[in-house]
Amino acid sequence: MKKKNRIPFNRLDYLYHRHEDEYNQAALSALCSGWYILGPELETFEKEFACYIGSSYCVGVNSGLDALTLSLRVLGIGEGDEVIVQANTYIATVLAITENRAIPVFVEPDEFHGIDASKIEAAITSKTKAIMIVHLYGQSCDMEPIVAISKQTGIPLIEDCAQSHGSTYQGKMTGSFGIMGCFSFYPTKNLGAFGDAGAIVTNDAELADKLRTLRNYGSKIKYQNETKGVNSRLDEIQAALLQVRLKYLEEIIAERERIAQSYLAGIDNPAVRLPKIRRGARHTWHLFVVQCDKRVELQAWPEDSGIQTQIHYPIPPHLSKAYSDLGYSKGSFPITERLADTVLSLPLYCGMTSDEINYVINAVNGYRP
Ligand SMILES: Cc1ncc(COP(=O)(O)O)c(C=O)c1O
Repeated sequence: MKKKNRIPFNRLDYLYHRHEDEYNQAALSALCSGWYILGPELETFEKEFACYIGSSYCVGVNSGLDALTLSLRVLGIGEGDEVIVQANTYIATVLAITENRAIPVFVEPDEFHGIDASKIEAAITSKTKAIMIVHLYGQSCDMEPIVAISKQTGIPLIEDCAQSHGSTYQGKMTGSFGIMGCFSFYPTKNLGAFGDAGAIVTNDAELADKLRTLRNYGSKIKYQNETKGVNSRLDEIQAALLQVRLKYLEEIIAERERIAQSYLAGIDNPAVRLPKIRRGARHTWHLFVVQCDKRVELQAWPEDSGIQTQIHYPIPPHLSKAYSDLGYSKGSFPITERLADTVLSLPLYCGMTSDEINYVINAVNGYRP
């Protein structure tokens, strides 16, 4: 029989219960309003989130994947166009590219798990139509050189911020560097909804307007369809709930930072490499990812102590069955592949007690290869 986890990887119910009355009230009020799609709750959330990021506009959509897909579509990127993307990302980033029939051009990551800025220029060709970067695990990519490349070449920069709500680089929020920043509000994210939801932020009024049309069947006025759009709208109930969660986002990040600092101070095992923090970046610890050459053994060890861990991500997109048509094989992106073989995410959730944090630290420190 499977042993019950003493420490699960995540506890989403804790954050709900912490402000239960406010969430219940927000959902009830949306329910009672009789208006469920594209209404005042979404408008309010869009304004509040744009303000939080420091962008002029926010367009709510159905998911982070839709945010990424529509961000490429609105730029007119399609068949045969190339989009530069880091190789070590969640598959959604790559799916957004191929969903538009464009070609992903992979670039290896740096030691902070963001795209290696020094390798971007070599990947640019006459067909490159966008650079899509991913602020993985809650930490910003190296934005100064990346923004410079985008400016010099005129190639638009799109940020995948699905894991980086509130993360900054030199004091500026991720999502506000490129032409568009794409967010997921999947329940496990630092700014998590209670179902699927996502958004795109931008300073470009024309793009925001086009995105609003695209998400709604290509129509601004009912039954007048200007373009071939999709149905991708962030509903009123989720928008109302997200307003509540956004109020507490800074508290949530501060608590995650405290737990991460405890791990960084407490984990001391030569077989386990701790995550590095980029200078000038504020890491928001969506995930706490260590590395170990004997990952299988390390993962089995805390699991025997009832600690649940996860791997983000075990198979890089270029080696997944879904992308066998791209013709890559093992060895195509060795840094990414090595990460896929060695990374391990430790439990980190709001409401974790000091005892639980120490239990994880002691278990990891007790592991011997
Ligand atoms: C880096 C990254 N990009 C995109 C997505 C897609 O977001 P969603 O699940 O809301 O579609 C995720 C979700 O996990 C993600 O981690």
